[in-house]
Amino acid sequence: MAYWEELKEKVAARSEEVLGKKVEVVDSPRFGDLSIPVFRVAKETGRNPPQVAEDLAGSLDLEEVERVEVSGGYVNIFLDRKVVAEGVLGEEEPWKSEEGKGKTVVIDYSSPNVAKPLHVGHLRSTIIGESLKRMYADLGYRVVGINYLGDVGTQFGSLIYAYLHWGDPAKFKEDPIRTALELYVRFHREAEENQELHEEAKRIYAEVERKKKEYWELWKMFRDLSIEYFQKNIYSLLEVSFDEYSGESFYIEKAKEIVEELKKKGVAVEVREGAKKGTVVADLEQYGLDHPVLLKSDGATDYLTRDLAAAVDRWEKYRFHRLLYVVGSAQSLHFRQMFKILELAGYPWWDRLVHVAFGMVFLPEGKISTRKGRVVFLEDVLREGIKRAEEELKKRGREGKDVARAVGVGAVIYAMIKVEPIKDVKFSWERALAFEGETGPYCQYSAVRARKILERVKRIGGEVEEVNDEEWRLLKLVAAYPSVMRQAAYSYRPNVVANHAYEMAAAFNDFYEKHRVAGSEREGFRALLVKRFLETQTAALHHLGIRVPPHM
Ligand code: ARG
Repeated sequence: MAYWEELKEKVAARSEEVLGKKVEVVDSPRFGDLSIPVFRVAKETGRNPPQVAEDLAGSLDLEEVERVEVSGGYVNIFLDRKVVAEGVLGEEEPWKSEEGKGKTVVIDYSSPNVAKPLHVGHLRSTIIGESLKRMYADLGYRVVGINYLGDVGTQFGSLIYAYLHWGDPAKFKEDPIRTALELYVRFHREAEENQELHEEAKRIYAEVERKKKEYWELWKMFRDLSIEYFQKNIYSLLEVSFDEYSGESFYIEKAKEIVEELKKKGVAVEVREGAKKGTVVADLEQYGLDHPVLLKSDGATDYLTRDLAAAVDRWEKYRFHRLLYVVGSAQSLHFRQMFKILELAGYPWWDRLVHVAFGMVFLPEGKISTRKGRVVFLEDVLREGIKRAEEELKKRGREGKDVARAVGVGAVIYAMIKVEPIKDVKFSWERALAFEGETGPYCQYSAVRARKILERVKRIGGEVEEVNDEEWRLLKLVAAYPSVMRQAAYSYRPNVVANHAYEMAAAFNDFYEKHRVAGSEREGFRALLVKRFLETQTAALHHLGIRVPPHM
């Protein structure tokens, strides 16, 4: 356990000795350093809060505590800064732990559709998923990142038809996504004249599922080229990689098997009349979850059916502690239906599944706006970020493609991840790329500055004589990071880390503006504080998927 958490634990343990109950100890930037609200304990023991607070205050004679104050139902603790500073600064990478040892967290994220552009929702999924992955890894979990591609559906029949009739193989290889888009457009234009094309596309796609060689190979080529394209143009920029590229196509057969099983268990039924006649559905009416279709009347599987099969397969493969689906909240009903079906089917691990839902992303008007139904290419968003970062850096007399890339991409990531997942993101280039305020560049810059300071000092570490207010504020934020990160991971809200990174940057800047480090009388202590800040800030940004550039 990290020093700060251990300290709070120690205070809570003392309360248990005195009151027979464990209190909650909270960080308190305004009243003392730590604060204990005693209302709940007072109620439980039938006593009045100020009296309980007095009792508790009188017993907190710990080495780390300098003095306590009672204020109504609160005990406010002022810590001994020297003692605590020594404890905190002595820690190496305290956010890393082994608490997840032996447990696996599987994360399904990004998951775009083959031969289609990634949209901003996929970007948000990629960013949140990657962040969760990095945090759980540092908590000692084995993490498996799965990119579950949308690689089935009649549109592949259309695409194959169009490719065979009008496609240019060289052009397709060169730029698969845009070329596929053109082919879809052509297909739909031609199909308006000739309705039979739709039937033809359906027939072709059915052959793909039956693995008829020439069609199946084309489908495979579209899939491979898409993956290559996503890696080259998007994932490499974001520095994201997956442990597994799976996809819906892997589960077509297994999905059919699972429907048979669900029928036997009475969870799925065949519809005998009405509009859905001939389909197999799950009756979830009594849970307010409708009647989702599991098999169409022609025996074809659905998105939901394949997801059920994929979940079972993942369980068999990984015996996960958690399986996280980082997918937009538009699919909430889908996941609720899926989890309910697994529960009804008696899979005891159904409650290990979590839909990490997130809201919409609104891009600004302009070249990459989604208005007028125009398609947004995600790589354009990232490239625009890099271009703007380059201009911004030039104004500051800085050059370098690598730096522009880290800053531009970091700015986009931060702007998306600082918002709580469930809320919408209203993206603005000016705000994302500002070097002031809650932005990626601002956080990155604080780390770059810290590194520069450390290059100039003669010694790092040494006796702590006193701790002034600015040093103390920074030190407490550094100390709290491990618990902040844990909270972010377990509540699936990386924004908690993003906000803390900003707080740390602001505290660091304030400290640095007021106090000299290199050449000061307290150089050793301050340099160690700066070093720990740099390590913590670098880790926090890493947990968000953001790299600290060598200079800015
Ligand atoms: N391909 C889907 C889409 O683009 C997302 C898939 C999410 N993962 C899942 N297991 N359903 O909307």
